[in-house]
Amino acid sequence: MTDFDPRALRSAFGRFMTGVTVVTTRNADGMPVGFTANSFASVSMGPPLLLVCPGKFLSSYTAFEACTDFAVSVLAEGQENVATTFASYKGDRFAKVPHHVGAQNLPLIDGAIAQFTCRTYSAQEAGDHCVLIGEVTSYKTDDARGLGYADGQFFSLGLERSARDPEAKRNMCGAILRYLDQVLLEPSDQGYRLPAMTVSDRIGLRDGLAAAMAARHITVDLGPVYSVYEDDRSGAHHSWLLGKVTAVEPASGLVPVPIADLPETRCASPAEARMLARFARETRTRDFTLYIGNADRGEIHSYSERL
Ligand SMILES: Cc1cc2nc3c(=O)[nH]c(=O)nc-3n(C[C@H](O)[C@H](O)[C@H](O)COP(=O)(O)O)c2cc1C
Repeated sequence: MTDFDPRALRSAFGRFMTGVTVVTTRNADGMPVGFTANSFASVSMGPPLLLVCPGKFLSSYTAFEACTDFAVSVLAEGQENVATTFASYKGDRFAKVPHHVGAQNLPLIDGAIAQFTCRTYSAQEAGDHCVLIGEVTSYKTDDARGLGYADGQFFSLGLERSARDPEAKRNMCGAILRYLDQVLLEPSDQGYRLPAMTVSDRIGLRDGLAAAMAARHITVDLGPVYSVYEDDRSGAHHSWLLGKVTAVEPASGLVPVPIADLPETRCASPAEARMLARFARETRTRDFTLYIGNADRGEIHSYSERL
């Protein structure tokens, strides 16, 4: 077997822009199960076939591998929270997300831009996944725009378009992920970056970020907000949280950098470099502060300040 670096391979696969779907079925007890998937593809017009690839790591894998029927809901712009819930929430996912029961007793996600119910056509084991092909038995579409996914981040075409509008502000959300005495950073040709994602609004930042990290195989406890600023150059609003990593796999694509080295670490963004240097300083004194301002100037607020 070819011995590729899993991190590099995952990131190469992740260069392919996709939409985001939630795939659902019922398990042997008749309970609804589902997971977020971007492995969706249309396969054939006659007969009408589509495919998704459930991974063997899914808690619902046996249900999907053996299912006779399944459904695919293609998520709309603004449904990041649904994608997040069906990617990482461990409780009752359906209790958190508006849905209804469609043909063949299959759960379908409300607000999806397309919904397909299928009869299983074939389920072919393929490495650590299974290629599940379904014959479409019914479908429904909606005019809303779809949610996108690329390079481990959600994106919305509406937002990308509005980013070109100088009046519009994008929302970036990221975290300083501490792992033992290190911080996990993303290498790039311009220098290190903190892991971050674009979000459509600032509601549900924490859940969205936790899910984006889970999709990269990083389990994180997200803590307080550490820095909030507008970057006048990019027109983006940035929110940075502190997070403690409890588990990380090499496939995450992030590199551990010792906290003590952060002040000298080459960063792609001067604002992130300053924030990491402050984090290194404050880790020594254990006196953490909150920065509010723009990318160049702002105020520091102590967490211990009381009204
Ligand atoms: C955008 C995105 C796309 C994903 N695509 C797939 C996929 O195609 N196949 C898959 O098995 N898991 C995929 N996952 C991961 C699963 O959604 C996640 O591992 C699953 O919900 C975990 O469910 P469990 O807690 O029931 O095991 C994706 C996650 C995200 C965030």
